[in-house]
Amino acid sequence: MVKILIPKERRAGEPRVAATPETVKRLTKDGFEVWIEAGAGEASFLPDQAYTDAGGKIVSVNASTWSEADVVLKVGPLAVNESLGKHEADALKPEAIVIGLLEPYREAEMVRKLAAGRITSLAMELVPRITRAQTMDALSSQANIAGYKAVVLAASRLTRYFPLLMTAAGTIPPARVVIMGAGVAGLQAVATAKRLGAIVEVSDIRPVVKEQVESLGGRFIDLPFEETGEGAGGYAKEMGEDFLRRQREILTEHVGSADVVITTAQVPGKKAPRLLTLDMVNAMRPGSVVVDLAAEQGGNCELTRAGEEVVHNGVLILGPVNLAASMSHDASMVYARNVLALLQSMMKDETIQIDLEDEVVAGSLLTHAGEITHAPTAEIVQGEQP
Ligand code: NAI
Repeated sequence: MVKILIPKERRAGEPRVAATPETVKRLTKDGFEVWIEAGAGEASFLPDQAYTDAGGKIVSVNASTWSEADVVLKVGPLAVNESLGKHEADALKPEAIVIGLLEPYREAEMVRKLAAGRITSLAMELVPRITRAQTMDALSSQANIAGYKAVVLAASRLTRYFPLLMTAAGTIPPARVVIMGAGVAGLQAVATAKRLGAIVEVSDIRPVVKEQVESLGGRFIDLPFEETGEGAGGYAKEMGEDFLRRQREILTEHVGSADVVITTAQVPGKKAPRLLTLDMVNAMRPGSVVVDLAAEQGGNCELTRAGEEVVHNGVLILGPVNLAASMSHDASMVYARNVLALLQSMMKDETIQIDLEDEVVAGSLLTHAGEITHAPTAEIVQGEQP
């Protein structure tokens, strides 16, 4: 019987877990044996008992549990694990399968070990964003949470109401929220801020977003497009400095009257575009709040410090890191479903088959049969070769 191991995540600040009682129940029903490390779901309020009730087996992790596993489901990358006394990638048997948000661009050493150990690894962030793979799209499921939480964070730190209120003590005007970047996180931020009653304005460089923003009740800030910001695969492309300068000029007016600015703008594989400069923050009102979701990619705001709070002239700038993890229960629920959907697409007669002809599998594959199969990662890893 194929053995699937769900280890506890060990990275600091990572409470999420890659399988929930719901997905474990499904996997055991599909004929798999599921081992869950004791306490793996605890930080997401998923107790061991719930996993046992779902048909899983609670195990304590040691080198033999790892080397016997056929499949390991992870949230974050593999790392040195004190319970194993070595790197998790070195504890796996050849041909074992690992699935997780493996951060291939940042984890050259892990990727090298996975390839050397002939491990088949699939990175959830590489799942192609095609219609068939929507249920497996962990970037979207987690970005959705980040967008929602960014608004809630801003609302909790703002010294004003979000909605228009007519009270016995007079009328309170609604808060004005500017959202920069309307991908998955940005659109969820629009919807959440609207539900709280704010006036929402949005800037993005992909004109196709305008209709989506308007359907959620947001106002789209028109930019002087001479070329579209639409890049490959529906993503943004990197815009020239001249365009970004004009965009900042237009946005300065809007942020000057905003109470909250939420930035989510990203260009895949590049440093986040600088959309909120020092001058623009200087134009903001004291008491307003910036939440920069691009903090880990260098920040959309010049003053952002990842994982920290900065106050500049009374403007609070938050640079939260791994915001999805701050809602670990629901983040785990949806992430585990994404992982299950990918795994189910590879199931055949109670085994897992790696079909290199399958667009989703081929696109997600990081290492296989001793090779680094994802070309951009192979380039980075080879570039860093000592
Ligand atoms: P992302 O996290 O890479 O970027 C966030 C947003 O920042 C994007 O909307 C981008 O256009 C915007 N941006 C980049 N530079 C900017 C600038 N200078 N000013 C303002 N905005 C800027 O994007 P995410 O959320 O990962 O997805 C982007 C798009 O990918 C989606 O809107 C959709 O079209 C496509 N997608 C398709 C899926 C599917 O078909 N299954 C699933 C998810 C996303």
